[in-house]
Amino acid sequence: MAQLEVSDFAQAVIDRMGECRDERFKQVMTALVKHAHAFMREVDLTPEEWMAGIQFLTATGQKCDERRQEFILLSDTLGISMLTVALAQARGAKGLDAHPGEMPTEATVQGPFFWPGAPKLDLGADIGEGYGEPTLYHGRVTDTSGQPLAGCELDVWSGDEGGLYDMQKGDSMSLRAQFQTDQDGNYRFWSIKPTFYPVPGDGPVGAMLDKMGRHLNRPGHMHMMLNAPGHEKLVTHIFVKDSPYLDSDAVFGVRNSLVVDFPKHGPGKAPDGRAMSKPYYTAKYDFRLVPSAG
Ligand code: BEZ
Ligand code: FE
Repeated sequence: MAQLEVSDFAQAVIDRMGECRDERFKQVMTALVKHAHAFMREVDLTPEEWMAGIQFLTATGQKCDERRQEFILLSDTLGISMLTVALAQARGAKGLDAHPGEMPTEATVQGPFFWPGAPKLDLGADIGEGYGEPTLYHGRVTDTSGQPLAGCELDVWSGDEGGLYDMQKGDSMSLRAQFQTDQDGNYRFWSIKPTFYPVPGDGPVGAMLDKMGRHLNRPGHMHMMLNAPGHEKLVTHIFVKDSPYLDSDAVFGVRNSLVVDFPKHGPGKAPDGRAMSKPYYTAKYDFRLVPSAG
């Protein structure tokens, strides 16, 4: 029997998949084995490092429960989640005949703090009352040719003025809601100007980031998820232009097209007619959704 040498193991594993009937699975596993073996040969991985890796992945799994997904956090902080989003967006835009100004809104990571079933509120409602600095979010949802999308569902969520999400504090929802665009595709709601905050750092991923010499912070952002019939779902954020960490987001989620000015206004009548007795901010953003494939 021919003995396998250092450079042969990857191909030997790949050759064992001769009976695999799922072509896509075979393609993915072939590339995975090839790259994993090449990585080990490149760094000349020691048995101690291999064991440290096994222990790290075990601890990562053990940190997961119904509220905490440490594996997704690992994927997020290694740029893998965002690469998945960017690949999907590039795939969706292929063959799309859009001019530069008509490109679909860029997507970014969903993160762990989406909570389905947020209260369905009327346009203009304030979900930030009692929290940070009041901000009016408004804009229009259209398709890529500029046609307004009426009845588009808009899920929004953010942390509080200290950067903590409701889920991290207990069992009751706050600073999140669902809205629907009006007949002209417009939306508006009040919340707060989001602040930067750290991703959860008390698990193995936090220890990994520390050892890598990295910080845990994400720049201030408002999460938005848009669902309109006949269109691809969009999961994205609006980032605050003057926030720290825009250039070093712990999860690599920032896209330039999603960075938005939050102008500050003195007390007075807000653009939606609301009388404001204290200063407030506005954030205007128009979304463009891609028609569903097929
Ligand atoms: C978030 O933006 O909520 C988030 C995204 C990735 C990891 C942790 C938090
Ligand atoms: Fe977030």
